[in-house]
Amino acid sequence: MRKIPENIKFGVASAAYQIEGGWNAADKSPSIWDTFCRKPGAILDGTNGEDTCKSYEYYKRDIEMIKFLGVQIYRFSISWPRILPEGFSNKISKVGTEYYNNLINELIANGIEPVVTIYHWDLPQKLQDLGGWANPEIAVWFEDYARVLYELFGDRVKTWITLNEPKQFGVFGYGMSRFAPGLNISGIAEYLVAKNLLLAHARAWHLYDKEFRPSQKGICGLTIATDYREGETDFPEDVITGQEAMDFEVGLYSHPIFSTEGGFPESVIRRIGQKSVEQGYPRSRLPELSKEEIEFIKGTSDFYGFNHYSTRFYTRSTYKEGTFPVPSYEDDIGGVFSLKDYKPAAIIHSTAIPAGMRKALKWVKDNCNDPEILILENGFGDLGGLEDVDRISYLADYINSMLDAIEIDKCNVTMYTVWSLMDNFEWCSGLRIKFGIFEINYDDEERTRRPKSSAFWFRHLVATRTLDHNYKAVRKELLF
Ligand code: BGC
Repeated sequence: MRKIPENIKFGVASAAYQIEGGWNAADKSPSIWDTFCRKPGAILDGTNGEDTCKSYEYYKRDIEMIKFLGVQIYRFSISWPRILPEGFSNKISKVGTEYYNNLINELIANGIEPVVTIYHWDLPQKLQDLGGWANPEIAVWFEDYARVLYELFGDRVKTWITLNEPKQFGVFGYGMSRFAPGLNISGIAEYLVAKNLLLAHARAWHLYDKEFRPSQKGICGLTIATDYREGETDFPEDVITGQEAMDFEVGLYSHPIFSTEGGFPESVIRRIGQKSVEQGYPRSRLPELSKEEIEFIKGTSDFYGFNHYSTRFYTRSTYKEGTFPVPSYEDDIGGVFSLKDYKPAAIIHSTAIPAGMRKALKWVKDNCNDPEILILENGFGDLGGLEDVDRISYLADYINSMLDAIEIDKCNVTMYTVWSLMDNFEWCSGLRIKFGIFEINYDDEERTRRPKSSAFWFRHLVATRTLDHNYKAVRKELLF
């Protein structure tokens, strides 16, 4: 039995493209995911997010489910092309605005605090046609978009998350073909994106800080995928490889914002610089940040948004040139990884390695100036089923590890959010992989929702604020 500290708020999370559907409702324009899903072979099971959970119609049922859980917060994202069908702020959609107003108002009426992600990967296609995150102008477009949201919803939304998981949309979307837009210009595009997204985020934060915070009195920051990387063995070379993999995975985005000196991490600058020279490039493939840019980005997050799923173990001992495309982000890390003897989950990045949660939280404390940490995602992906005992043990073990980080390492964690409220469109894995604590019946036009065992388990944890390893959740048949 472990008590959960009183200051921790509990929540559940989702994202617009993964749950809303209504992909062409009213004046909404296509996002890069609408386009990407139509590419043959892009989505493993051939599905798409065009209607998915239909939350665009059934958001009230989602709120009933959140109420059932008894959590204080709901983290969701706003679809840029639903609010700004042209991508730019010249035209604000009335229907899109109304949808999010209804959602926010209904949450508040039910005593649930909205935590809003401004960008969870569904860029308007029109902006992609102009280069998307590889075009430096995106920083200005993003600031304009953020302004619209602060103006429309900032009277009621008090926690803003500018960007969800920079690495995932930069590396997987621009450096590889796993995610939209699937550019696959590896070793180049992901680093252009890294610089541009940092500047975009910083602009949105400064805007909030100067023009909106004084009256709206909220907080604004970003959330970074903070999976843990460590050496496969204790040999110094492996230990260093693990640390450098962490610098690439997380530090590339966190160091410019949270460190005292700012800018990209030293190991990332050094490794990409050296490899670029060896590869015959006239300069590093990692763009420079000017002194002004470094200062402008530094300190631009009121909290550390922490998404965490798993750990990977790195070594250089078996790494060979040619293991990965040259140049590429992975080749720049210059190591190979394994899961040691942990049992791989149905989706590998949610493999249960609970000790990594504590290590990652401690890494953030040590490397990011001991920030306030909001855990904005943690969850387990499987192939479905209402008696989801593996999900319950995953969540229990990770919360246990979080409590170690709080009690022993004194990490300042103030929020814990489960990914995800319900099964949804899991990006390139499609509808087949399920992260929900509620099940969705996709065969039913009304997308009936049913709580899995994990929903009952989480509800009990929230109500008692106690992690009880002996508690067995009993599932009851409920329909939402
Ligand atoms: C993303 C979610 C995704 C989840 C599970 C995170 O990378 O923010 O959108 O569904 O992980 O894979």
